[in-house]
Amino acid sequence: MEHELVITERGRRSGLPITVAVHATGRGMAAGGCRLEHYPHWRDGLDDALRLSAAMTGKCAVAGLPLGGGKTVVTLPDRRAPAPAARRDLLHDVGDVIASLDGRYATGPDVGTGPDDMTVIAERTRHVFCRPRSAGGSGDSSPHTAAGVLAALRTVCADRFGSADLAGRSFAILGLGRVGAHIAALLAAAGARLIAADVDTARRVVAARHGATWVSPRDCLTAAVDVLVPAALGGLLTAASVPALRCAAIAGPANNQLDAAGTAGLLHERGILWAPDIAVSAGGLIHATAVELLHETPERAAARVHGVGDTLAAILSTARADAVSPATVVDQLVARSLGPVRSRPEPASGKSSPPADAAGTVTRPAMTS
Ligand code: PHE
Repeated sequence: MEHELVITERGRRSGLPITVAVHATGRGMAAGGCRLEHYPHWRDGLDDALRLSAAMTGKCAVAGLPLGGGKTVVTLPDRRAPAPAARRDLLHDVGDVIASLDGRYATGPDVGTGPDDMTVIAERTRHVFCRPRSAGGSGDSSPHTAAGVLAALRTVCADRFGSADLAGRSFAILGLGRVGAHIAALLAAAGARLIAADVDTARRVVAARHGATWVSPRDCLTAAVDVLVPAALGGLLTAASVPALRCAAIAGPANNQLDAAGTAGLLHERGILWAPDIAVSAGGLIHATAVELLHETPERAAARVHGVGDTLAAILSTARADAVSPATVVDQLVARSLGPVRSRPEPASGKSSPPADAAGTVTRPAMTS
């Protein structure tokens, strides 16, 4: 068993299957968003929680945060968003499961949830990031995730094309949800040429607002562009899809973009630069942690988010020097930061010696929640 703790429970109020997966707390309390999504079976939701929580461990380690990886997945019965009363019930059910973990895990927003949902969860537990600012939280994480992605895209362009300038470069944004829409706005402002897609055709207006050409998800995935930006659900890069790609590089906020670890090798062989998602997507988590756990100023938090670009630059230069894929570099970073011992560490109490972060420096700020 790779995970420290996995709970799947049928919500007392909602009757819906809720999984909270805590992958690792060796670096600190586990953090990871609460996803509301339809799956064919609750076991599929459980599987996704296992994969997503493991990715959060890597995300925290690469970003040098004093946190471990966790995730919450609520398996919805169909694709429709729950009605307000049902939504409240299921968020209270989620809050009760998190409360039972007594600080080993804190949640935040993810696919299908936002800051207002965090306020409802907070009625049952205090272990919640990203409530609205008016409610005492750090607010919506999506603009910060997008800011981190933009810094990563500049790094990717510098590495692949020799200039960090985004003006005139072409991007295909796959997914115009909370984060994808912010990325479209930032890229448009930087003078980039955009195409975009979403399974939800109502988001065509978002594309139009930013001057992006609307295409089908399939055409977006295989578009001949400089950079593909996956900003929806994961698993889109597969042995079947990689041969059809026509982009030079891939970098985006979607979690778990590869269907399997080996797919990174296929991209590398094709000469497509894939920026590992756990490095690219960390901006929202970095901002929430900086503001709510470390009590930093907005300026310092923004600087940390911008650091996503520098972290990625270090990864890409190591990959180049060692003639390996960026994915391999990231795997090594994560393994090193978690240490050789895979037995269960003590929960974060401040008593154990501080772990080294991905850059080899030691960080263990006081945990306040
Ligand atoms: N869901 C986002 C992520 O996967 C953002 C997040 C912010 C999650 C804060 C938890 C806490 O990184």
